[in-house]
Amino acid sequence: MAYKILVLKGDGIGPEVVGEALQVLKVIARRSAIDIEFKEAHIGGHAIDHFGTPMPEETLKHAQDSDAILLGAVGGPKWDNPNATVRPEQALLGLRKALGLFANVRPVRAVKELLGASPLKPEIISAVDLVVVRELTGGIYYGQPSEKRNTAGGREGVDTCFYTEAEIARVLRFAFELARNRRRKLTSVDKANVLSTSRLWREIATEIAREFKDVACEHQLVDSMAMHLLRRPKDFDVIVTENMFGDILTDEASVLAGSMGLLPSASLGEELNSAGCRVGLYEPIHGSAPDIAGRDEANPLAAILSAAMLLEHSLGMRPEAEVIEQAVDAVVKDGHRTRDLAGGSGTKTVGCKAMGRLVREKIESFDA
Ligand code: IPM
Ligand code: MG
Repeated sequence: MAYKILVLKGDGIGPEVVGEALQVLKVIARRSAIDIEFKEAHIGGHAIDHFGTPMPEETLKHAQDSDAILLGAVGGPKWDNPNATVRPEQALLGLRKALGLFANVRPVRAVKELLGASPLKPEIISAVDLVVVRELTGGIYYGQPSEKRNTAGGREGVDTCFYTEAEIARVLRFAFELARNRRRKLTSVDKANVLSTSRLWREIATEIAREFKDVACEHQLVDSMAMHLLRRPKDFDVIVTENMFGDILTDEASVLAGSMGLLPSASLGEELNSAGCRVGLYEPIHGSAPDIAGRDEANPLAAILSAAMLLEHSLGMRPEAEVIEQAVDAVVKDGHRTRDLAGGSGTKTVGCKAMGRLVREKIESFDA
């Protein structure tokens, strides 16, 4: 039976970068004789324009019927009105929630040839190899009440940070398991000196740590973690944290890798579906970058590496994922750079399409 993959290109540079990632997947599928059925659907701002909603019902139906989803990015200035009740980002939050994708995995790796692309000193970032596990379906992103309102005393805004024990425990267990298969070090990040949800988080992390005696577990407050991440990033292996802290820390962590355009992500649920696949949503951590959309300047590598994560986590094909990762490394090593990484001596600046083609040619050259 064919694997079902839903492709949601989205807005801005989404269609460009996912277009390249999709072609890479097709090369891998042909090469390894994997039967994949691709479907495309609408999401985000352009879905608002065409259907009045960022996630048309048909998109959700296809998503629920897929083994994995490859997504570009949503949003843009056209839909940014702060008073709008319908926003592109709602589609992303809705999809994560509807599919139960509670564990967002964001690996950050320093690539030797790209050390110069980061504003940080090479000796600080060389050999960085960490993964942030961000809780993705709870916390302040989803808690109720959440609204902006007018009262006799003036305008008010409220958001609610809410977590259940079960939500915290499952993402912590996921992160401990991951650490067990890596360097066996886990850093749990919270704000337990101020927030009740964080005190619960720390209590549960301490309890679960007893089940994973082979993993060294430490706790960090999110503010000092933001500092340690730039000062001594090599000390971290798996970092686990709640939804909003993870959102913020992963943008910060992208500076370690040199560019947002390099970082992929996987959002995973608990269950295996009837095809034996762990359903997942795979997307670059970068946004829709409307300023460069349609100019063939975007870096497709984060989307391509997201496709590699899809093969590994949803289809259970680690060797195929590795082929993509090795091809990306080799193309970078050959000196090819998109504009976000441009500038080093001996390098050549290429566009989005050319970068995608170089990765595919590299994969094909492995067979020659
Ligand atoms: C991310 C993004 C999203 C988030 C936005 C687009 C809603 O920043 O995936 O990190 O905040 O989760
Ligand atoms: Mg973010």
